[in-house]
Amino acid sequence: MVATTSTGRDGWSSRSAFILAAIGSAVGLGNLVRFPAEAGANGGGAFVLFYILCIVLIGLPVLLSETLIGRHGQAAAPESYRKVAEESGASKSWELVATLGVLSAFLVLSFYCVLGGWVLYYIYLFIADLIATGVTGPAFDGLNFEAVDALFPAMIANGPVTVVLNLIFLAITLFFVARGVSGGIEKVAVYLMPLFFVLLVGITIYSLIGGSSQETFDYLFTFEPEKLTGEVMLAAVGQAFFSLSLGVAGMVTYGAYVSRDVNLAGTSAIIGAADTSVALVAGLCIFPIVIAAGLTPNGGLGLMFQTLPHAFQEIPFGSLIGLAFFIMVGFAALTSSVALMEVPSAWVIDQFRIRRPAAVLLVTALAAVFGTLSALSTGMLSGFHPLGFLPMFEGLGFLDTLDTLTSKLTMPIGALLTAVFIGWIADKRLVDSENGLSGGLHLFWRFLVRWFCPLALLLILLGGIFPDRA
Ligand code: PFF
Repeated sequence: MVATTSTGRDGWSSRSAFILAAIGSAVGLGNLVRFPAEAGANGGGAFVLFYILCIVLIGLPVLLSETLIGRHGQAAAPESYRKVAEESGASKSWELVATLGVLSAFLVLSFYCVLGGWVLYYIYLFIADLIATGVTGPAFDGLNFEAVDALFPAMIANGPVTVVLNLIFLAITLFFVARGVSGGIEKVAVYLMPLFFVLLVGITIYSLIGGSSQETFDYLFTFEPEKLTGEVMLAAVGQAFFSLSLGVAGMVTYGAYVSRDVNLAGTSAIIGAADTSVALVAGLCIFPIVIAAGLTPNGGLGLMFQTLPHAFQEIPFGSLIGLAFFIMVGFAALTSSVALMEVPSAWVIDQFRIRRPAAVLLVTALAAVFGTLSALSTGMLSGFHPLGFLPMFEGLGFLDTLDTLTSKLTMPIGALLTAVFIGWIADKRLVDSENGLSGGLHLFWRFLVRWFCPLALLLILLGGIFPDRA
């Protein structure tokens, strides 16, 4: 059965389905791979505490603004912005904010599925290892440290493998998105998110009991203010948006399938709390095993794809835990890639009035082209630095360029403009009738979207882009 919203479109079948799907969108590689990697690269505790502040004071208010616009518009993101603008007597061009978001979501999708492909490769590695070495032993028995270290660079340098894996991950995503909101997207979240949580909690308990939990707490939660530079702040804000799926019209798109009776403030708080908890728990899951194995928890993608496999080499049941771990990462990645594909697909459906499967296929084909460039950027095309003439992108290959461009520029800019739109441009009565807030909390939220979010985002953007002048 296809659930419909008040306007008769396909939509979430219940409030809890929306909450699970939105958490599924938010929780992904951003929490499990990017958060620990960024925390490691940006000085641990300083980054983590600033990140939490960003979530509460900027992320949540923008999350509520985005879902509110989507629910009011009941359409693909640009049309939703246009509706709110028109009803508020403002210029239609505000829809460009969402158009920028749709473009960003597409770019993120194109490289996200490359990382999804890497995760598939590790699932394959651990299955093969489990078959070869048995359930009880450590992972990669018989391989020495150097050999395990070499698995990751060998994989990312292997163009045919990364390109094909990217296509497989895109195809899995396409399969669900083409089936629609209640029949496909929602099903992935409803089945996979509970399994994800069980795996996450199980592995984290194992890790905290068997690993170096005290050192991990010190590492993640010791605040050293001198480490909080402009770049670290921009990295934290970018991570907050990436993690909450904000600034790319993602939550506007999901909000458009929510029925009128759902309280958006309450659901936004649940989504934000779940996403942040998963990021912190991911830190508590990964670092204890890594530190206990005598490895350095420094940042970068190597943390998940090299350091952690070394740690699995040291522990009993290493193959099994490793496999469970990467399956968990794969589930989280899929519920996010589905969201990323839905944003441009919904736009193509609305814009060109074509059927869903055709629209989704078109988006997938284009993403495959960009994805191929990203997949090759860690091997054959590693010397290609598309925006290398700009200091912010110096030395970055195609994949890293898209990551930096979206998380450090288009997402914060999209979020800033959304805050200005809701805080200053949109009709106050319209906003108040949708947001589900009252009393002091309402006043506080209004202050945040009108003043705090735009100003803080502007300062952080300038400080991060021009670090020397800040
Ligand atoms: N929030 C996802 C993550 O943390 O992995 C990534 C993402 C999904 C970003 C959906 C944007 C989006 F629309």
